[in-house]
Amino acid sequence: MIFIDLKFQEWQWQYQISTTFFVFVILPTLLWIYAKYITSSPNKYNKLEEPIKLVVPIPDEAKPHWKGKRLYPPNLTIRVPNEPNKIQSYCPATGQYLGTFSATSKEEMNQQIINAKKAQNSWKNSNFSLRRQVLKTLSRYILDNQQDIARIACRDSGKTKLDASMGEIMVTLEKLNWIIAHGERILRPSQRPGPSNLLIGMMKNGEVRYEPLGVVAALVSWNYPFHNLMGPIIAALFTGNAIIIKCSEQVIWSSKWFIDLVRVVLRSLKIDEDLVQLCCCYPEDADYFSSHPGLSHITFIGSKPVAHKVVESAAKELTPCVVELGGKDSLIVLDDIKDIKALSSVIMRGTFQSAGQNCIGIERVICLPKSYEKLVEIFSERVNQLRLGSDIDQLDEIDMGAMISDNRFKQLEALVEDAVSKGARLIHGGKPYQHPNYPQGHYFEPTLLVDVDSSMRIFQEEVFGPVLTMIKATDVDDAINLANGTEYGLGNSIFGSSFKQVNDIVNRLDSGNVAINDFATFYVAQLPFGGVKKSGYGKFGGEEGLLGLCVAKSVVMDKPLMRWFGVATSIPPPIDYPIKDDKKAWGFVSSLNTAGYDSRVWEVVKAFKKLAKGGA
Ligand SMILES: *[C@@H]1O[C@H](CO)[C@@H](O)[C@H](O)[C@H]1NC(C)=O
Ligand SMILES: *[C@@H]1O[C@H](CO)[C@@H](O)[C@H](O)[C@H]1NC(C)=O
Ligand SMILES: *[C@@H]1O[C@H](CO)[C@@H](O)[C@H](O)[C@H]1NC(C)=O
Repeated sequence: MIFIDLKFQEWQWQYQISTTFFVFVILPTLLWIYAKYITSSPNKYNKLEEPIKLVVPIPDEAKPHWKGKRLYPPNLTIRVPNEPNKIQSYCPATGQYLGTFSATSKEEMNQQIINAKKAQNSWKNSNFSLRRQVLKTLSRYILDNQQDIARIACRDSGKTKLDASMGEIMVTLEKLNWIIAHGERILRPSQRPGPSNLLIGMMKNGEVRYEPLGVVAALVSWNYPFHNLMGPIIAALFTGNAIIIKCSEQVIWSSKWFIDLVRVVLRSLKIDEDLVQLCCCYPEDADYFSSHPGLSHITFIGSKPVAHKVVESAAKELTPCVVELGGKDSLIVLDDIKDIKALSSVIMRGTFQSAGQNCIGIERVICLPKSYEKLVEIFSERVNQLRLGSDIDQLDEIDMGAMISDNRFKQLEALVEDAVSKGARLIHGGKPYQHPNYPQGHYFEPTLLVDVDSSMRIFQEEVFGPVLTMIKATDVDDAINLANGTEYGLGNSIFGSSFKQVNDIVNRLDSGNVAINDFATFYVAQLPFGGVKKSGYGKFGGEEGLLGLCVAKSVVMDKPLMRWFGVATSIPPPIDYPIKDDKKAWGFVSSLNTAGYDSRVWEVVKAFKKLAKGGA
């Protein structure tokens, strides 16, 4: 940035300085960092864990210039008339038919879980070296085939390749490589202090060992078909579990391919591929799956109404759940914000990526008065420029893709109408868009709605669509109240120039995740992810996510020194059955309490004296 203002002559001078600077300062620094990096993460470069090469055929539907037949309404749907057990798949951006699949039957679910358990019985004893090799092989394959994976995700979800590369591929690679680097350390037995009682603590050590749960399940949403499916698989495999993914019926076509990719990795490393399986069914049969006694844990990513059903089913077997639901995430803009143009770019991406179908998408921009009009002006220009279409089929540049289906369009329109009737200004969009090349595609116009306030439904209800809403706050307290003022509490961003002020606001937000002067990077950073209030409970991701897929087995043992001297714990005579003297027994235990917990020296001395006399 600094270079931009320099005149040409200054440029040359600057250039020489820069070269010298580069050779003698930057280059050595980079090499030093690289060397440090290698030595600090030996896992990454362990020759015994080299990724292996895979050959996985790419489906024709994801190849460039593919021409598939288009479906027309009323056939443009995932239901197949008269065949309740079939799921039809099509591209939401073009309406092209992708295939028809059988829903998983109850008998198949049973068999899957039996097979998974069998595979897990040997996988639970695998070493971290082998588990890392699985992840490294996946990571290498993804790196070498980014285009194909993005195209497969786009074909099934209608998003753009850029949306896929950021929201599907980058986050998955980060998860893989973060666990490769840190996973083993997190899952090592954790040493704990023994009891605080001096007399007992002297003898005992505590330890927590993390053992796999068995067969776990993840019920994942359609908005990131690659990432949402891979995330739970990566965590489950690394913790020694088997996993059954229940994908959304909206994205069964790509989910099948992604699952097969993982199974190829397992097979190539001579690991039982039944560790990872795919289940897909309509909501009517989902209850059977989530109440299955063979499952040890359920991760659910989806909407609140469905979460009620899943948790209710899981309760039949007392299966623990992590529940990650929607949000009404806000981005707070303080008055002292400096680079408003850069901020507008962050907001555009945070709102319109994947056509706004993000659980941590920016649903509300809460802005203090000073920058409000300026931001409205910038967005009025920028939102209008977004180009819609099918990125993998068109040669034109495309900014925003389709939505997964048109079944929520009426709802989106109603939310916008309600806001306008209560005084919001609709500057762009607000209705479905019919693409000239792809009239069957499910497009919704990028929408800009300003002067929104808390009386409007769109302030409270999750949109999950391409709608940018601007809310004006009178001051910082008002902004915080507005941010906290919904039933959700998933994510927030705050932008301001004073770190101290921003940092104080973080502590006043009812929110599971907060990014300071950034958007959603808490997700990429592999921190524990999950919301508060009606955004769900429990965490996946990060250390907590890995540990959550384990039984924390508490083990207590004699200290090594005690074992060395052969001192074993036994019941002292005064309290051994049959109790010989009630008074002495009481005296013994109460003195043990005093000796162990009292902070007054004289009392402790007296207690020891009493103990020495067997409680008398
Ligand atoms: C819908 O599918 C049925 C059965 O495949 C077919 O007979 C009918 O012509 C299709 N309708 C349209 C509008 O394509
Ligand atoms: C880990 O397990 C694999 C496969 O069982 C074995 O070949 C390898 O030697 C083991 N590695 C270590 C470090 O124990
Ligand atoms: C968030 O704001 C609401 C409404 O003003 C308030 O009730 C709540 O206590 C706040 N949360 C925190 C963590 O301060």
